[in-house]
Amino acid sequence: MTSISDPREFLSQTRDAVNRVLDDWCSRVRVGMEPKIADAIAYSLSGPGKRLRPALLIAVYGELGGGADVTEIAAAVEVVHTYSLVHDDLPCMDDDDLRRGRPTTHREFGVPVASDAAFHMVPLAARILVSGAKAIGLGPDVVGEMGRELFRAAGAAGMVGGQVLDLEAEGIAVPLEELVRIHRAKTGALISSCVVLGALAAGADGRTVSAVRSYGLELGLAFQVVDDILDATSTSTELGKTAGKDQSQQKATFPAIMGVDRAAQFAEEHIDRAIDHLVSVGLDSGLMNSLALFVHNRRS
Ligand code: IPE
Ligand code: IPE
Ligand code: MG
Ligand code: MG
Ligand code: MG
Repeated sequence: MTSISDPREFLSQTRDAVNRVLDDWCSRVRVGMEPKIADAIAYSLSGPGKRLRPALLIAVYGELGGGADVTEIAAAVEVVHTYSLVHDDLPCMDDDDLRRGRPTTHREFGVPVASDAAFHMVPLAARILVSGAKAIGLGPDVVGEMGRELFRAAGAAGMVGGQVLDLEAEGIAVPLEELVRIHRAKTGALISSCVVLGALAAGADGRTVSAVRSYGLELGLAFQVVDDILDATSTSTELGKTAGKDQSQQKATFPAIMGVDRAAQFAEEHIDRAIDHLVSVGLDSGLMNSLALFVHNRRS
């Protein structure tokens, strides 16, 4: 694998900046909203997530020469991701009690409020995206393209569709190609859209956008494989979410179909492929590589 530089400082700085923007928006959206829903939105967004998706967006933007502050645009993708976690944890989905080291949103607020709060977060993400894009002077064409990109990735052909496939695959011995398809859709699509948004905001050309998209897809697949491995090998304390859940729910996962060691090798191969896509457009900077390696080496 390519040599590693430590991206922790970058991740920590971008996380703090994104958290400030999220806090600010949580206060703003209270106006005119049922207080319980606003509380549930604020609760879910204030959980200590890694904020990896916004960091990827900010990193690509900067590496492509972007000089403005894209934190607000990056916060929009975190809102989409966090809404997906609130729904993922619901009893009708993965039925989880623990998220980001705290009770899941529905355990804290009840299923109806948590479900509703998550639905509210979809248009909220759109508002944040448009506000962030306008603030740095992006024109309507670029903003439109960014919106299409993000919400297509979050929709039926991406995350939501992948989540449906994930539920349908419970208890079924799915072939490898199908599992790859599920993981690319439920996780890879959104991660890929984050890096594409960074590239679009930086005004990248089509070839660069396409290389960055491929990087994100490979990285996103590897991300979910590592998530599956951690579920099987780590503890709830370390993960901040319930370990061993995939096996108890008979989820279709990489460790389940090929064992932990081969799954780790599979993830590593796809991290390498992700980096290869960067090489093709001269974007294999220390930061982009190290973020890819972080996905592979993370412990939570
Ligand atoms: C968890 O994502 C959900 C998956 C797509 C596997 P993260 O591991 O990025 O969760 P947070 O945002 O850090 O809590
Ligand atoms: C979730 O995958 C993918 C999403 C789109 C939210 P998981 O169900 O494995 O995520 P965790 O392990 O609960 O975070
Ligand atoms: Mg799930
Ligand atoms: Mg889950
Ligand atoms: Mg998981």
